[in-house]
Parts: sequence; structure tokens; C-alpha cells
Amino acid sequence: MKKLLATLLGASLVSLLGACGGGGGAAIPDTPEGAAFEYRHGVMEAVAYKVARLRSMAMGEIPANDAAFAKDAKDVAALASMIPEGFIPNSIVGPSIAKPDIWTNKADFDAKAMEFQKNAEALAMTASAQGFEAAKGMVQAVGQGCGGCHRPYRASREE
Ligand code: HEC
Repeated sequence: MKKLLATLLGASLVSLLGACGGGGGAAIPDTPEGAAFEYRHGVMEAVAYKVARLRSMAMGEIPANDAAFAKDAKDVAALASMIPEGFIPNSIVGPSIAKPDIWTNKADFDAKAMEFQKNAEALAMTASAQGFEAAKGMVQAVGQGCGGCHRPYRASREE
């Protein structure tokens, strides 16, 4: 029984690993397009982490701190500026859920990234000049940038 359990556990670990890396149906190709997908996925994960923290501070779920809040906002602005370069042509690869419309409307897609960046910069500026209390109401505008871009340019999964 113990042995069976270990085997089962081992098998599910292997399939889990397969799902996020090599092997499996949605493998990321070892090409410049695959690398671009991995890069932008990493940027998005970092953006999500930082914006979740800003939201939690704004909502009083975690302790807020002027300096940490301003830094997270600044980081989001920097990450936002890194979004467009991850969307190189023909890079809907592996598990990507990017929509082809990104490349037919690249100027609009880039403008959405820029607007997201500008909102994060405004948040960072207000936070460092006037503090957390004055800036916290601006988190919502930054957060709206996610859905504003995901709705037209990302398939299925909700924001
Ligand atoms: C300018 C457009 C744009 C903005 C702004 C944007 N995203 Fe994305 N995001 C995308 C696209 C396109 C994808 C799909 C990329 C792919 O799969 O190739 C994506 C993917 C993701 C992913 C990867 C996981 C998944 O479900 O595919 C996360 C997490 C994510 N975004 C979170 C966020 C959050 C949180 C924000 C806002 C704070 C945000 N994004 C802002 C365009 C954007």
C-alpha cells in the first residue's frame, strides 16, 4: 500500500512537472517565440503579485507603509513598460492564451500597456509625494488596466 501510494504520488508529480515545463501537450518550444512567451508570463506574474499587494494595502487587509506602497507602484510602472516587447510576432505558443488581435492592433495593444504604465506612475508619484492615504484611491484605476487589456487581448480565463 505504501509503495502504491508512493508510485501514485510520483506519477502525479511527474505529470504536474510535465504541465509546467517540457513534455505534455502544451510544451513551450525552445525558440525565440517560446522565450518571449516565458518572459511575458514572468512579467505578468510579477505584475499580479505587486498589484495584489497594492490592493491589499489599499483595502486595509495588510499593513500599509508609505515607502513599500510607493515602491510597489513604481515597480508596477517599470513592469508595465516591459510588457510590449514580450509580444513578438508568431508567439502564440505552448499554453499561451494571447489573442491574434494583439498583432493586428499592435498600436492599440501597446497604448493599453502605456496607459497602464501611466496610471501606475501617477500612483507612485502621489504615494511618494503625499503618502499612502492620499494615493490609495488611485489603485482602482491601475487595477482596471488588467481587465481593459485582457478582455480584448487574452482568451478565456477571467481577469
Ligand atoms: C497591455 C495588456 C495587458 C495588461 C495591461 C495586463 N495584462 Fe495580463 N496578460 C495580457 C495577455 C495578452 C496575457 C496572455 C499572454 C499569453 O498567454 O501569451 C496576459 C496574461 C496574464 C497572466 C498569466 C496567467 C494567465 O491567466 O494567462 C496573469 C497572471 C496576468 N496577465 C495578470 C495581469 C494583471 C493582474 C494585470 C493588471 C494589474 C495585467 N495582467 C495587465 C495582457 C495584459
